Amino acid sequence: MKITFYGHASLGIQVNDIHILVDPFISANPKASCIDINSLKADYILVTHAHQDHIVDVEAIAKRTGSLVISNFEIVSYYEKLGIEGHPMNHGGKWNFEFGSVKYVNAIHTSSFPDGTYGGQPGGFVIEGEHKNIYIAGDTALTYDMKLIPLQTKLDLVVLPVGDNFTMGIDDAILASDFVDCDKILGYHFDTFGYIEIDHEAAKQKFFEKDKDLMLLEIGEFIEL
Ligand code: NI
Ligand code: MN
Repeated sequence: MKITFYGHASLGIQVNDIHILVDPFISANPKASCIDINSLKADYILVTHAHQDHIVDVEAIAKRTGSLVISNFEIVSYYEKLGIEGHPMNHGGKWNFEFGSVKYVNAIHTSSFPDGTYGGQPGGFVIEGEHKNIYIAGDTALTYDMKLIPLQTKLDLVVLPVGDNFTMGIDDAILASDFVDCDKILGYHFDTFGYIEIDHEAAKQKFFEKDKDLMLLEIGEFIEL
């Protein structure tokens, strides 16, 4: 499993020859100007919630690639009206796709489209694929519900927001990694706007002191599990 950081909360996940995009917000992110959305491959697009900074490129990429949008019922219904195919889910539900299983899990946040359309309740994704399991938390506060995840899934990586203000910050992300029983953390949702700028070295040091590894990738950089 290869995971590429496209800035903010945008990820590319490759499982064998299948390409999955998560929360594409690239063309409107000046920090991600090195990434051309027209060159991104996508068989599937996962959307955690409907906020602008998670969906801005969904329509263009889905229409170009014919990818399937996987999200909650309200978000998938929104895109179906635009002629985009989707797979609707809701919290606690799991489905087996060709790359592995996806479970839509709780997040504590809000979710509305830029035009005010209701975006359902926000969520995160637990993905079990190719013998590697990851949890992408989406925009969320620290929540006790995270403790449910390791009861069923041994995680190889947890992707957590670390920018604070709109989501959990560093200290709560450390607790979240305890809750999900995973010490390998990919941080996201930081530095994009003034409200969520972080001190990278201080953040890594805080995780290090708890015997945890916080990775903060450059935009376009990837890791392999
Ligand atoms: Ni949000
Ligand atoms: Mn966000």
